[in-house]
Amino acid sequence: MPRVALVTGGTRGIGAAIAKALRAAGYTVAANYGGNDEAAQKFKAETGISVYKWDVSSFDACAAGVKQVEADLGPIEVLVNNAGITRDVPLHRMKLEQWAAVVNTNLGSLFNMTRQVIEGMRTRKFGRIINISSINGQKGQFGQCNYSAAKAGEIGFTKALAQEGAKSGITVNAICPGYINTEMVQAVPKDVLEKSILPTIPIGRLGEPEEIGRCVVFLASDDAGLITGSTLTANGGQYFV
Ligand code: CAA
Repeated sequence: MPRVALVTGGTRGIGAAIAKALRAAGYTVAANYGGNDEAAQKFKAETGISVYKWDVSSFDACAAGVKQVEADLGPIEVLVNNAGITRDVPLHRMKLEQWAAVVNTNLGSLFNMTRQVIEGMRTRKFGRIINISSINGQKGQFGQCNYSAAKAGEIGFTKALAQEGAKSGITVNAICPGYINTEMVQAVPKDVLEKSILPTIPIGRLGEPEEIGRCVVFLASDDAGLITGSTLTANGGQYFV
């Protein structure tokens, strides 16, 4: 039986590339999404991958969503916590809502989602949890106190849960993509992107979503059983950890 993989934020951007890569590697894939029905339906029509709408910042919505996916496809053995948003603004102008939206969606979702699947993984003695963090959780970024804090928190969560899961065959890893060619990065003001960001990437280009998809396929595989609690940095040399 193919393993079941669930990708949050899996119908657009990096998440869509991850979902497609896992499907190509033989997994049965479910792609969660938060709001953009049009993009989700387009993704479903193009790929045949099942899509499920719920808000990952809500614990109860995650419980209901995971229950539905498992009823349809079977127990989730690979969870990719990818869903994330930005609300970029310097702290002295940041509103509580901008802080809360980013922290609850990007970091709160790791608890909300992983809590739903961890008991089953422990019982079955196998699991792969892959958290999509960011270069900006490693180095910080002007205008992203909310996002950088949440993404750094994902790395702490990864290291703690890796210790708890090890005896049960569950690996927990983070990937820190650099600036990847997605709508999220294209939303950065053009002059900021061209003058302040692109020149700092030694390979001279943005990453492509498929490059992160391949990292996920590796970490999800049986071959990666030795790797847990790690942070895979994929940023074209922009920042070394
Ligand atoms: N370091 C130091 N100073 C900086 C700076 C930086 N990185 N960026 C801007 N400043 C300074 C500017 O020089 C300017 O100073 P002066 O007033 O003295 O000229 C001042 O801060 C204001 O800058 P802006 O005009 O840009 O201010 P703004 O309010 O219009 O915009 C901002 C602020 C929204 C943070 C904008 O700069 C921005 O969008 N920056 C990009 C943030 C970014 O990289 N986000 C990543 C999004 S993609 C993502 O998050 C995916 C991922 O994981 C990588």
